[in-house]
Amino acid sequence: MVGIVLSGGKGTRLYPSTKVISKQLLPIFDKPMIYYPISTLMLGGIREINIITTPEDFNQYKELLLDGSQWGLFFNYLIQEKPDGIAQAFLIAEKFIKGKKVCLILGDNLFYGKLDFFRNAMSNLRSSTIFAYEVDNPKDYGVVVLDKNNKPIKIVEKPQEHISKYAIPGLYLFDERVVEYAKSLTPSERGELEITDLLRIYLENSELDVVLVGRGVAWLDTGTPNNLVEAALFLRAIEQRQGRKIGCLEEIALAQGYVAKDKLFDWISSMPNSEYKNYCLKVLDEY
Ligand code: TTP
Repeated sequence: MVGIVLSGGKGTRLYPSTKVISKQLLPIFDKPMIYYPISTLMLGGIREINIITTPEDFNQYKELLLDGSQWGLFFNYLIQEKPDGIAQAFLIAEKFIKGKKVCLILGDNLFYGKLDFFRNAMSNLRSSTIFAYEVDNPKDYGVVVLDKNNKPIKIVEKPQEHISKYAIPGLYLFDERVVEYAKSLTPSERGELEITDLLRIYLENSELDVVLVGRGVAWLDTGTPNNLVEAALFLRAIEQRQGRKIGCLEEIALAQGYVAKDKLFDWISSMPNSEYKNYCLKVLDEY
C-alpha cells in the first residue's frame, strides 16, 4: 500500500499564522505538525509516501523532509495548484498510485494510541474503509450514519442537524479503483472534489466498510488556534510523563526496522544540538 499525505489547503482559520507558513509546518509542541500523520503511516507499515503541498510551500516541505531516506522512506513531492478538494489528491498522485492500494491521511490529523485499528483495517481491506470516531461536535465534520449493525447508511458533510455522533477522521483506505472513481467526480457547490462524494460511490456499491475507533485512541485535529494549543498540551502531558516522544520519526524508523542503526546515527549527528537530538541519541542507545 502506498500513502498520500495531503498537506495543501489555505489554513484560513489559523490566519495570520498561516499567511506565510503552511499550516502543516506549524509546530505542535515539539515538532512540525506533518510529522504526526507521517508517523501514523509509518506505524501502519507504509514507506512510499506522496506528499501533496501548495506551489508556495513545496520547497519548504522538501527542505524539512528531504527524500525520506533518512527514515527509510520514499517521498514523492506533488503540487496541488489550488485547494480544489480532498478527492483531487488521487488525480494529482495518479501516476504514483495507479494499480496500488492507497492510504490517504490529511496533513493536519493526529492519532495517538494503539494503532491496531488501522493496521487491522489495512489487512482486512475489501474495497474502501473509513473510520468513525465519536465526537461532541459532529456538525463540524463529515459524518457517517450507521445502522444497528454499524453498517454505513449515509455520509454527510458538516450536517446542520444532529444525524450521527460519528465524525470521519482524515484517514482513508482505498483499493486500486480510487483513481477511476475520483475521475468521475464533479465539483460540489463550493467548487471542490469532495471526499464525501467519493465515499458515496463506494457506499452505493456496498463497498464501504466503517471501523469504529474507540476512546482508547485519541484523534485530534488542528485546524483552529484552540485545537493547536489543546493538541500541544495533550502531547506535552504524555511526553513529559513518560519521557517518550510521540511522532519521533527517527524512533519509529528504528523500531520498524526501516533504517540501519549506523545510518540513523549519521543523520542524528547532523542535527543541531537540541532536546530533540538528545532524545534521538537516547533512543539509539536503547537499540
Ligand atoms: P481543511 O481544514 O478543510 O482546510 P484548510 O487546511 O485549508 O484550513 P481552513 O479550513 O482553516 O482554511 O483541510 C483539511 C486538510 O486537508 C488540511 O490538512 C489541508 C488539506 N487540504 C488540501 O491539502 N487540499 C484541499 O483541497 C483541501 C480541501 C484540504
